[in-house]
Amino acid sequence: MYQTLTFYHSIFRWLVLASLLYSIYRAYKGYNSKAVFTKTDNAVRHWTATIAHIQLVIGIILYSQSPIIKYFWNNFKDAVQNLDTVFFGLIHIALMLTAIILITIGSALSKRKNTDNEKFKTMLVWFSISLIIIFIAIPWPFSPLANRPYFR
Ligand code: HEM
Repeated sequence: MYQTLTFYHSIFRWLVLASLLYSIYRAYKGYNSKAVFTKTDNAVRHWTATIAHIQLVIGIILYSQSPIIKYFWNNFKDAVQNLDTVFFGLIHIALMLTAIILITIGSALSKRKNTDNEKFKTMLVWFSISLIIIFIAIPWPFSPLANRPYFR
């Protein structure tokens, strides 16, 4: 169960990143060229938020199963001294929750805007901020915070 969750959570990051990058690219292009906000743009907006929500659910289940998290909460005094355990116990979840909330708000606000240009702009701003936060909170092999492989 734990290994399976880690596998899916790890691989799903690429989908989260790809969908966000594609949304931002479409929003940037649409905003700059004052294009019409098409059904495809709307689907891309919707699916980017949905993919982030699926990753959130996998993350929450993983959080309840991970031995690192169990160790963190059961040995708090020792575990807070270790950046790797603090990262997964607090930093990763806090930053990812923030980013997914921003994606949700951005997606909902964009949907409610009256003009196509405002829809693109809202998507562009909120999704870009989320992408930066997610990028910082991923335990890349080169991250100064915690390191995990690109693929499981
Ligand atoms: C966009 C959202 C997220 C992305 C892109 C993401 C990405 C990742 C990646 C790449 C790893 C390393 C996986 C590996 O070991 O190979 C990881 C680990 C982990 N993530 Fe997330 N995550 C996200 C959201 C969350 C959320 C919201 C939670 C908790 C509610 C969470 C909980 C965890 C836990 C507990 C681990 C460590 C598991 C372990 O090594 O025992 N993640 N995450």
